[in-house]
Amino acid sequence: MSSIITIALSKGRILDDTLPLLAAAGIEPEDDIKKSRKLIFTTNQPNVRLVVLRATDVPTYVQHGVADLGVAGKDVLMEHGYDGLYEPLDLKIATCRLMTAAMKGATPKSGRIKVATKFVNIAKRYYAGKGIQVDIIKLYGGMELAPLMGLADEIVDIVDTGNTLVANGLEPREKICDISSRLIANSASMKMKHASLQPILDKLAQAVGAE
Ligand code: ATP
Ligand code: PRP
Repeated sequence: MSSIITIALSKGRILDDTLPLLAAAGIEPEDDIKKSRKLIFTTNQPNVRLVVLRATDVPTYVQHGVADLGVAGKDVLMEHGYDGLYEPLDLKIATCRLMTAAMKGATPKSGRIKVATKFVNIAKRYYAGKGIQVDIIKLYGGMELAPLMGLADEIVDIVDTGNTLVANGLEPREKICDISSRLIANSASMKMKHASLQPILDKLAQAVGAE
């Protein structure tokens, strides 16, 4: 008998790119996820269900094993940490960069600086690695406003086109890393449900390769 597999999806911008990959892997929700208020969805595969979560909550559900697989941005994963998680596949969707940024033309401050970000752990590690002392100010969005308002000297944020930085008089400074969305798996599920998970991983890898 095949095990029930639960896949945690990030709602928001990743969802649009995730659904075609799942479809190519033969998994299609029975309702229109984007129109429905439901959070759990059955699929055309009797043993596969989908749950749709805030992007930042996906690693938590997978780590605790209530979801076997998940789709999340590398930024979210680096911030959460990899306890109890594997990252078997780069889905190559929602590509962007994690960068530091500051007011255009501003001279980098020497000594202790204020950094606004929602990526507190990543920022702490990054600046510690550079030997720069920082006070981190946790924000939940719209980080670009912080230097403009004098709340912070720098931000750590996602940059794609760079339009949001430019529109707010900021400029990118240093790239921390490239970002894309990844398939993650609960480490216990990978062992206990291997026979059911492996075909899904294989088909998703094929779908990514075919893109
Ligand atoms: P939450 O709602 O949980 O706070 P969020 O608002 O960051 O999360 P989204 O905006 O849907 O959620 O972003 C999901 C993921 O998409 C991010 O974790 C990142 O990997 C990627 N991403 C964010 N912004 C961009 C962008 N401008 N271009 C491309 N990818 C992006
Ligand atoms: C993300 C990110 C940047 C912007 C970058 O914000 O936080 O603000 O996209 O994209 P760009 O370089 O193409 O302009 P999002 O739209 O998710 O809003 P948020 O600030 O609420 O996270």
